[in-house]
Amino acid sequence: MKLLVTGGAGFIGSAVVRQAVAAGHGVVNVDCLTYAACLENVASVAASPLYAFEQVDIRDAEALARVFVAHRPDAVMHLAAESHVDRSIDGPGAFIDTNVRGTYTLLEAARAYWQDQGRPESFRFHHISTDEVFGSLGPEGQFTEETPYDPRSPYSASKAASDHLVRAWHHTYGLPVVLSNCSNNYGPFHFPEKLIPVVILNALAGRPVPVYGQGLNVRDWLYVEDHAAALLMVLEKGAVGRSYNIGGENEATNIDLVRKICAILDRKRPDAAPHAGLIEFVTDRPGHDLRYAIDATRIRSELGWKPSVTLDEGLERTVDWYLANESWWRPLQARQGVGERLGVAR
Ligand SMILES: NC(=O)c1ccc[n+]([C@@H]2O[C@H](COP(=O)([O-])OP(=O)(O)OC[C@H]3O[C@@H](n4cnc5c(N)ncnc54)[C@H](O)[C@@H]3O)[C@@H](O)[C@H]2O)c1
Repeated sequence: MKLLVTGGAGFIGSAVVRQAVAAGHGVVNVDCLTYAACLENVASVAASPLYAFEQVDIRDAEALARVFVAHRPDAVMHLAAESHVDRSIDGPGAFIDTNVRGTYTLLEAARAYWQDQGRPESFRFHHISTDEVFGSLGPEGQFTEETPYDPRSPYSASKAASDHLVRAWHHTYGLPVVLSNCSNNYGPFHFPEKLIPVVILNALAGRPVPVYGQGLNVRDWLYVEDHAAALLMVLEKGAVGRSYNIGGENEATNIDLVRKICAILDRKRPDAAPHAGLIEFVTDRPGHDLRYAIDATRIRSELGWKPSVTLDEGLERTVDWYLANESWWRPLQARQGVGERLGVAR
């Protein structure tokens, strides 16, 4: 299959690109290379005859039309987005622009191409979204695919809007779409502004490890390679018009997660004092959702997917990867906004 993957130079998109090429799919990676992109993430497949890169912005209708005609994909996997909640609090405009207008522009380009091809039923537009569209849970319960949307941050609202557009293009124009909503990812190539890499890299450097509020927010952590495998499965086996929740079934409070990482570093890079001594509670994120949890029954029972690693195994692998790949993360720490406290504006 020939896949057009948007956002393939980002964290999750690059895992999809690497796995898709390894599975023998052709891939055209469409990415405009924002601050969050890193082409090194796909260096391992860059020389493959199965791989092509197009530096294109998904808001550029003309460029997208050219890419569709030139590469003739069988499917689109849409991951390009502005993805950092804290940045969405400081500057929501970019999130509306890329996540909403960009998704609309991509949908229109895909629809024009699909119609020109004679509306093949085998075509797929796979939209990759987040569990954050469902809002915040109390101590009990999980998000299912039927949970009403209730986004609460500019980021999650922009993703919810894009999900609605994708469903509308299916119902109105018949575009064969599938959707997936996943929980928090972690693993290799995670950009160093997100929680887990921040914890690893600050602790390694002996710098304070910031934890928002009391660290009691709960997330369901999904190892990025497990997520990429799920996405390829949804693309190949998912029913048209259907959405699939993808979760790691690994819930943890932020403070427990941070303590786990500190304990791993105590074993692998012992310091004079335990790394947990660096933990510093800082002002909470405005509107910080308390708890997300995914009920992954549908993807488990209908498609046969399940996560392959536990949180403890995944964290161990992730810490090992950061210890072995300083040449990847060190230059990224100099990018705009990385290492700064973002998203406190009210
Ligand atoms: N990271 C998570 O935990 C998580 C959880 C749930 C859902 N998601 C979703 O998965 C997708 C990928 O997330 P990620 O963490 O890999 O994001 P990321 O920020 O690491 O990567 C996003 C990529 O998209 C590209 N991009 C951004 N704007 C673009 C534009 N206008 N045109 C073309 N390319 C553009 C960037 O250059 C970057 O390479 C996003 O849609 C996100 O909403 C992520």
